[in-house]
Amino acid sequence: MGYPYKPHASETLVLSTHFGDPEARTLKGWKDRGGYRALETALGMDPAAIIGVIKESGLRGRGGAGFPTGLKWSFMKPDDGKPHYLCCNADESEPGTFKDREIMRWTPHALIEGCAIGAYAIGAETCYIYIRGEFTEPLQRMEDALAEARAAGIVGRNAMGTGKTINVWVHKGAGAYICGEETALMNSIEGKRGNPRIKPPFPAVAGVFGMPTTINNVETLTAVPHILNQGGAWYKNFARSDNPKSTGTKLWSVCGNIARPGNYEMVMGFPFGEFLRDICGGALPGRELRAIIPGGSSVPIINMEEADRALMDYEGMAAVGTMLGSAGCIVIDNAQSIPRQVARLARFYAHESCAQCTQCREGTAWTTKILERIVAGNGTAEDLDTLLDVADDMTGKTICVLSDSCAVPVVSALQRFRGDFEALITKKTVHTVPVVVS
Ligand SMILES: Cc1cc2nc3c(=O)[nH]c(=O)nc-3n(C[C@H](O)[C@H](O)[C@H](O)COP(=O)(O)O)c2cc1C
Repeated sequence: MGYPYKPHASETLVLSTHFGDPEARTLKGWKDRGGYRALETALGMDPAAIIGVIKESGLRGRGGAGFPTGLKWSFMKPDDGKPHYLCCNADESEPGTFKDREIMRWTPHALIEGCAIGAYAIGAETCYIYIRGEFTEPLQRMEDALAEARAAGIVGRNAMGTGKTINVWVHKGAGAYICGEETALMNSIEGKRGNPRIKPPFPAVAGVFGMPTTINNVETLTAVPHILNQGGAWYKNFARSDNPKSTGTKLWSVCGNIARPGNYEMVMGFPFGEFLRDICGGALPGRELRAIIPGGSSVPIINMEEADRALMDYEGMAAVGTMLGSAGCIVIDNAQSIPRQVARLARFYAHESCAQCTQCREGTAWTTKILERIVAGNGTAEDLDTLLDVADDMTGKTICVLSDSCAVPVVSALQRFRGDFEALITKKTVHTVPVVVS
């Protein structure tokens, strides 16, 4: 089956070049398209030199936090006498984000190649690709590609005939959002309940099985072969001239009330308003764009005035009070109830809380109850302050940031769209067109 999406002329295709091309899924097809050249080059290099190229490229983690990848890899001490591990985070459960699954569906060998290079660079003989439980097709694609790569001796005990061991395994999760948090992911790989661990110790010191570990997102690792093939300087060039801190291309998943939803690969620094209106087609007929959650559901919601000013990189998003996150962009138009959308997100976080920390277990549940009460028309004037109070207790106080992630949309929506909540409480409406109940 084909891919119902044609790239826009303003996209810059690097990772998504072969999306929609079924032949790129096979080992032969991948090699015909230049695949595994970068791994061959890498295996002839000193690991420190590979880390140097990744540092030069400016690549930052695409899983949400934007941590510099080369720096993260350099935390793994060579010659410490311990087994090292690489974990590829393919859990992708953040509402609004649907890019990693497309990489795995269309270019599974690209990810295997990135994993193998990453493993070699950090001195790991084992890489686990931790894949979300619901990803039936991506899982099959990864298993098929891995079987081919193993049979061809690309990965395994004698990777590409170099005598080096690079084993890559797929580990299927059970469909829990929290297992995308890196320390919960490691617990899950160990067969334990997916509860986040207290840091320190950080994974580079004591990670999976207590050994030094690096965790990287699918998109991060898939960028690596391209960087090795074309050089750090080439990748660094994909940036705005006044901001060298965000480099490369980024996959943006766009969903919600937008004319052309889908995945778009954009250079860092592209104007966000132009992206939404011209490339993604803007609002649906008869509607107006009203709010955007640009980086997956855990980042602050912004209004259209802010979106129109924003540039699509880490600093550009921070400048308007939000984050790039995983670039899972949720678009909300004037036919939606913002309190209702925020209540839905809160319910998601309450459901996905691992319940280890009281602030998260109780806070996500209380936030949901209060928001749903407001949406049902039973809110009180005190509810909005109570929500902010609860959000404050949920921020910066727990083992991981799931709790903070629930508080963020609530606080940001109250900062920008307080009138919508007040209108529900006073039984008035601020919407000019009927609210769509999906
Ligand atoms: C609750 C929670 C869920 C997360 N889910 C994911 C996920 O599905 N995929 C991902 O790559 N990172 C996820 N992260 C971020 C990871 O903890 C980690 O920062 C990331 O995998 C590091 O890779 P990177 O440096 O390549 O971005 C999540 C974090 C939290 C707190």
